[in-house]
Amino acid sequence: MARSKVTVVGAGNVGATCAHWIASREIADVVLIDILDGVAKGKALDLAEAAPVMKFDLKMTGGSDYALTANSDVVVITAGVPRKKDPVTGQFPSRDDLVRTNQKIVGDVAREVAKYSPNAILIIVSNPLDAMCHVALHETGFPANRVIGQAGALDTARYKAFLAEALNVSVRDIHGIVLGGHGDEMVPLPRHTSVAGIPVRELLPEDKLQAIIERTRKGGGEIVGLVGVSAWYAPAAGTVEMVEAIIRDQKRVIPSAVLLSGQYGYDGLFVGVPVVLGKDGVEKIIEMELNDEEKAMLEKSANAVKSVVGVLGY
Ligand code: APR
Repeated sequence: MARSKVTVVGAGNVGATCAHWIASREIADVVLIDILDGVAKGKALDLAEAAPVMKFDLKMTGGSDYALTANSDVVVITAGVPRKKDPVTGQFPSRDDLVRTNQKIVGDVAREVAKYSPNAILIIVSNPLDAMCHVALHETGFPANRVIGQAGALDTARYKAFLAEALNVSVRDIHGIVLGGHGDEMVPLPRHTSVAGIPVRELLPEDKLQAIIERTRKGGGEIVGLVGVSAWYAPAAGTVEMVEAIIRDQKRVIPSAVLLSGQYGYDGLFVGVPVVLGKDGVEKIIEMELNDEEKAMLEKSANAVKSVVGVLGY
C-alpha cells in the first residue's frame, strides 16, 4: 500500500511542530510548505536528519513549490500572520484588517493546494479559525466533509490537562468536550465531563470546576502572556490528533469546526461541534442534546462567527 502523504502549509511554530509529531508517530510522509522557501526546506531537512536517531522512517521534504504537495491525502493550513503591533505606528491592526489579510493568505494557499491535491482533506488552523474555514471552502469548492477547522481539539486538550492536574489523576482518564469557538465563545460542557466515567461534579467542587473552565477559555492568552507569542505544542497536538484520525481511519470523535446544514439550528455556518473523523474527513456530525444554557452559549459562539464571516464579503 502506498504511504499516505500529509502537507503542512506554514512552517512556523505550529506548522513545524505538526510536521515533527506527524513524523515521530510515523503517520505519513510530510511536505512542509512556506512562503519562505529556505525555512520550509531547512526545517524539513533538520527533521529528516533527526530520523536515524528518533527512528521514524518516512519522507520529509519542504520548500515553497506546491508541486511538492501533489496528491496529498491531508493538507494542514497554518499559514497566516499573527495579530501584532505595527512597528511604525505602534497600533494593532483592526480585527477586520487582520481578517482580510489572512483571508488573502489562506485563499491563495487553498487554491494552490486544491490545484495539486483535488481530493485532499483540509484541516484549517489559521486564525480567525471559523472564518478561515469559510475562505478555504469558498476558494476550493471542496465538499463540506473535506474542510475541517481545528479548535475544539485544542480547547478540549487544555480543559483535560487542567482537570487532571486539579484532581491529581492521569490525563488519560479525563473525558470531556468543549464546543464552539476559541475564547469567550467557547462552550465547555461540565455535564458531559467525567473521570473514568464518574461525573466530574462528584469529584470537584463547583468553584474549582468554574475556575478551570475560565482558565480554559483564557488558555491561549495565558501562553501569550508567558511566552510573548501564541502557543504551538498544544495547537499542533490537537491538529495531529485530527490528522491521525483521518489517515488511520480511526473514526475518532473529536470536536471540530464544520459546516452545519441544519444541525443545532444553524445552516451554512462553521461551528465547533462533535464529529466522527475518518478516511472521508467528517463522516458524521453528532447532534448532542444541549440544555438552554448550553444552547445560549453556542448561539453566542455562532453569532461571533457570523460577524467575522460578514467581513469576508462572500
Ligand atoms: N504561504 C505560505 N506560508 C505563509 C504565507 C503564505 N502566503 N504567509 C505566511 N506564511 C507563513 C509564515 O512565513 C510563517 O512561517 O506562515 C507561518 C506562520 O507561522 P508563525 O508566524 O510561527 O505562526 P504560528 O504560531 O505557527 O501560527 C500559525 O495558527 O494557531 C494559529 O493563530 C495562529 O493563525 C496562526 C497560525
